[in-house]
Amino acid sequence: MSATNQSLRGRVALVTGASRGIGRAIASRFAAEGASVVLSASRMGAHGRLSGTLEEATSEIQAAGGKAAGVSADLVDAEARRDLIERAEVPFGPLDVLVNNAGAGIMSLPSESTTEERRTMFEINVNAPVDLAQQAIPGMKARGGGWILNISSATTIQTGLPYRNTKHSSLIIGPYGATKAALDRYTEALAHELAEHEIFVNALAPVAIVLTQSADYVRDIARANPDQVEPVEMMAEAALELCTHRHIGRIVFSRDLLHSIGRKVHSLDGKQVLGDALLEADVEATA
Ligand SMILES: NC(=O)c1ccc[n+]([C@@H]2O[C@H](COP(=O)([O-])OP(=O)(O)OC[C@H]3O[C@@H](n4cnc5c(N)ncnc54)[C@H](OP(=O)(O)O)[C@@H]3O)[C@@H](O)[C@H]2O)c1
Repeated sequence: MSATNQSLRGRVALVTGASRGIGRAIASRFAAEGASVVLSASRMGAHGRLSGTLEEATSEIQAAGGKAAGVSADLVDAEARRDLIERAEVPFGPLDVLVNNAGAGIMSLPSESTTEERRTMFEINVNAPVDLAQQAIPGMKARGGGWILNISSATTIQTGLPYRNTKHSSLIIGPYGATKAALDRYTEALAHELAEHEIFVNALAPVAIVLTQSADYVRDIARANPDQVEPVEMMAEAALELCTHRHIGRIVFSRDLLHSIGRKVHSLDGKQVLGDALLEADVEATA
């Protein structure tokens, strides 16, 4: 891991929801840029039928020469996440970067979404990122700065995208979108509060679907709409930009951010330029 810019050399980063999907990709990219990365998920070990474990994700980074450690906490549970930052600082020291990526999407019609479903989503998607940020802020202030990145979604508004061909899908994603809208608003406010402390807070969303190992129905939609699929490397690249530069309170889409600054997308090991921010993913290859 030496052919990159090492733009995170000497930094310590925590990425939540890093056992698979976008979080795992961000963790790999950050490690390739020299960060010591703490990966978290709800548990160590296998997770039912879902592929991707914390152990696999950390081992993969270590095997590539990076520094990684895993810490588990169920983010639905306020008590379980109460000391997550403290535990995350054990392996490599104080955090410079916090990426609140873990998320939950429970699909149900807005008229039918249950209190329990909404409570779960608000805990993981809103309260956990806020609690973790509040745990991390005193240390970042004391050390003169840091970065907090919250992973959001295009579903914060009812555009029909990325599920424009299926009305039902665009409706049942609404309650989840409402939690991400709350996260965006909080992100803006926190960003403006913390900018004077050199703590840069932003929110980043995929412009389209990023295929992960968890949602079969998303894969079906992606197969039917390959133009609505985004390579995970684009999110990792945009996350790296937002966690190494002085952006304040931006609520941005991956492709828009990269395109606006002319930043190329790299492979997760940072060594290869894959292309510009307009590239599309191969649905089957990203399975
Ligand atoms: N994929 C997309 O197209 C897309 C689009 C818009 C926004 N997003 C957002 O991007 C983020 C990542 O999405 P993804 O598709 O990569 O997700 P994913 O593949 O479903 O992975 C979710 C990650 O979050 C962790 N997680 C889930 N529940 C948790 C809990 N209770 N406590 C702690 N960790 C938990 C999972 O770990 P374990 O299950 O192993 O604990 C896993 O590492 C989410 O915030 C999502 O809302 C994704």
